[in-house]
Amino acid sequence: MTDKFHIQEIAPEEIPEPRRPEPSKMVIFGASGDLTSRKLIPALYSLHLKGRLPRGFTIVGSSRTAYSHEEFRREMRQAVEEFGDDPVITSKWAPFAEGLFYSPGNIKNAEDYEKLDGFLRGLSDEGENADNRLYYLAVAPQFYADAVTNLGAAGMTAENDGWRRIVVEKPFGHDLASAQALNSTIHQSFGENQIYRIDHYLGKETVQNIMVFRFANAIFEPLWNRNYIDHVQITVAESVGIGERGGYYDTAGVLRDMFQNHLLQLLTLTAMEPPIAFEATALRDEKVKVLRALRPIGVADTAERTVRGQYVAGQVMGEKVRGYRDETDIGPNSQTATYAALKLHIDNWRWQGVPFYLRSGKQLATKTTQIMIQFKCAPHLMFSSPAGEGLPPNLLGICIQPDEGMHLRFETKVPGAGMTLRSVDMEFHHRPTFGEDALPSAYERLLLDALQGDQSLFARSDEIELAWSLVDSIHAGWETDAAPELDFYEPGGWGPDTARHFIGQDGRRWREVCGH
Ligand code: BG6
Repeated sequence: MTDKFHIQEIAPEEIPEPRRPEPSKMVIFGASGDLTSRKLIPALYSLHLKGRLPRGFTIVGSSRTAYSHEEFRREMRQAVEEFGDDPVITSKWAPFAEGLFYSPGNIKNAEDYEKLDGFLRGLSDEGENADNRLYYLAVAPQFYADAVTNLGAAGMTAENDGWRRIVVEKPFGHDLASAQALNSTIHQSFGENQIYRIDHYLGKETVQNIMVFRFANAIFEPLWNRNYIDHVQITVAESVGIGERGGYYDTAGVLRDMFQNHLLQLLTLTAMEPPIAFEATALRDEKVKVLRALRPIGVADTAERTVRGQYVAGQVMGEKVRGYRDETDIGPNSQTATYAALKLHIDNWRWQGVPFYLRSGKQLATKTTQIMIQFKCAPHLMFSSPAGEGLPPNLLGICIQPDEGMHLRFETKVPGAGMTLRSVDMEFHHRPTFGEDALPSAYERLLLDALQGDQSLFARSDEIELAWSLVDSIHAGWETDAAPELDFYEPGGWGPDTARHFIGQDGRRWREVCGH
């Protein structure tokens, strides 16, 4: 009889129910905006269907639009029908809608906050005395400072009769100086333990799984260092352009839009030392140590360690697409990068000599986010390989999206005479294992964590500022004659040619290990 590994299946009803957050209210500033309709309300409705919201939870939308409560509820129902994953069934929607309210107000107007405060105090609290509140800034970044200052001035941030927390969306500043100024403005009204700076990548199940993969398994961590790893690649490719966001994007570019936040978050989780606990301070301390160990990219290094590109007109999957400079609100001479690749070094014991190559761009061949760990080749070849070729290295692909899972590539013998080798993949995929619905939206997880007071998956002020220092130094280099040429690339491919030479000159190549 063969002895088989036996993995105990856990039935869904056996999975322990997570703790429900305590009674609380949520205020959404920017309630008539896109983020509220596309992400926040659909995520809150999903949480409601799963029974995860606090008892008697109320959501108060606020913006300048003059909705009545009923109009707001109707708008939000339409939003969930259009953008949500869950069907809207009246019997389930009705109790959710009962907790939806609207309080019109101008975010710049101090008196409107007093009205809002009065309205919040008037809402019943399910018999609980606490007036716990989560404020969510779903507004354009230029209003963040007004909102926090006005909340502070109206006495709405003091935790005398319940907790007060604030969620701040990205972009958090435009550069280091503006991020520091914003941190200091927010700190005048809120303590750091009340602030939840969102990066939706941290809410993705597969991003959290990086930590489980590394620290709940004993077999990978011993290899996770300069002795066994040749280099790491982090790719965040998008098959779309900038859409109608030209006004924002042209002042941001890919480094601010994607690297300062998402790619550096992926880098820190991949490279950090094991935290002593899965707890906000321990986790964020380790991430910050990685950012502090990043070798700066000085002006003189930009040509060698960075690539910048911009898409031209062409075709993606048979569809004609406009060039970046023809997009709405983009000038004909814009120098903004829609693609970048970086070579980063982490100057600590674990990673000395192991480059991390990061790349991200718009209008590429496909949408995929993946982290690829390339191990060193076997030290001695006892099998013959085609002339001039060594054995392929082992690769580990951490596939963040869309085909979430892990791929481990190794060599195997092709059956038959001789010793011919071929690379094969051992694969794990989330969906077939846990079910199609097992991956909740990032916003569900993050909203729930904020309601529960868990800051682990939110960025701390020092993390944000260190990430900006790196991005600022690259932008400073890009402003000088030392900058690499802005390389124009055809849509539907893998970015500019210079990106291939960039990694190629180190004797390496970009790899797409995960399925798309
Ligand atoms: C956002 C960027 O933060 O992330 C967008 O502003 C980008 O430009 C998006 O398209 C990508 O997120 P996701 O979850 O689709 O990979």
